Amino acid sequence: MNCLSTFIKFTRQLKVFIRSPFSTIALLVRRQVLRLKGVTVGRKLCLEGRIDVAVGRNVRLGDYVRLGGGVYLGTWPTGKLVVGDNTYIGRWSIILAHESVMIGSDCLIAPGCHITDVNHGIAPGELIRNQPLVSKPVCIGNDVWVGVGCSILPGVTIGDGVVVGARSVVTNDVPANAVVVGAPARLIRYRTEKAQ
Ligand SMILES: CC(C)(COP(=O)(O)OP(=O)(O)OC[C@H]1O[C@@H](n2cnc3c(N)ncnc32)[C@H](O)[C@@H]1OP(=O)(O)O)[C@@H](O)C(=O)NCCC(=O)NCCS
Repeated sequence: MNCLSTFIKFTRQLKVFIRSPFSTIALLVRRQVLRLKGVTVGRKLCLEGRIDVAVGRNVRLGDYVRLGGGVYLGTWPTGKLVVGDNTYIGRWSIILAHESVMIGSDCLIAPGCHITDVNHGIAPGELIRNQPLVSKPVCIGNDVWVGVGCSILPGVTIGDGVVVGARSVVTNDVPANAVVVGAPARLIRYRTEKAQ
């Protein structure tokens, strides 16, 4: 039994040893690809898989940013996207900046979130797809936790220390330290108050 567990331990360590040079090379290549696309990358950027960036100019990722696999960062030539230091963006999240999307430091954006500063024009009598885009900047403070599968819509400012519940749709500004949930997101309490 002892022999078996030693063997299992040994094969696990061997796997890690073989895999790590490849994943380190893959990480370095992915970082370099982002730089080549024009993204400004801070120190120790961690990429947990393939990241898609459409038009990298005006995308700035701070130090120790961590991006999950499948994250898509899209900026129009007119748009600016900034992610602060030490912020995590979960797998398959999509962030689109036509004008300006600012995400602060130490934030946790859970997987599958959509953050966008842009709407299609929806005047009647004309195809929506032919109408000009209408943008309003989005600003997310520091130390914000956005739960899984949320949407943050154009024009929204989220204060420092906010918690956004899973699957919420944030349509209005959220004051600092608030906990908001639902679609549209409503305030349930402040973090300074105890949960009931
Ligand atoms: C927002 C959250 C932190 C609130 O937790 P909490 O303070 O313990 O809140 P409670 O569970 O006491 O819920 C308070 C009320 O909000 C409602 N509520 C909580 N989360 C909700 C959500 N995501 N959507 C809609 N309503 C929600 C509850 O039903 C309850 O309503 P009621 O008072 O009418 O019964 C938690 O519910 C949540 O959504 N966590 C996100 C989990 C996640 O995405 N994890 C990913 C890991 S990165």
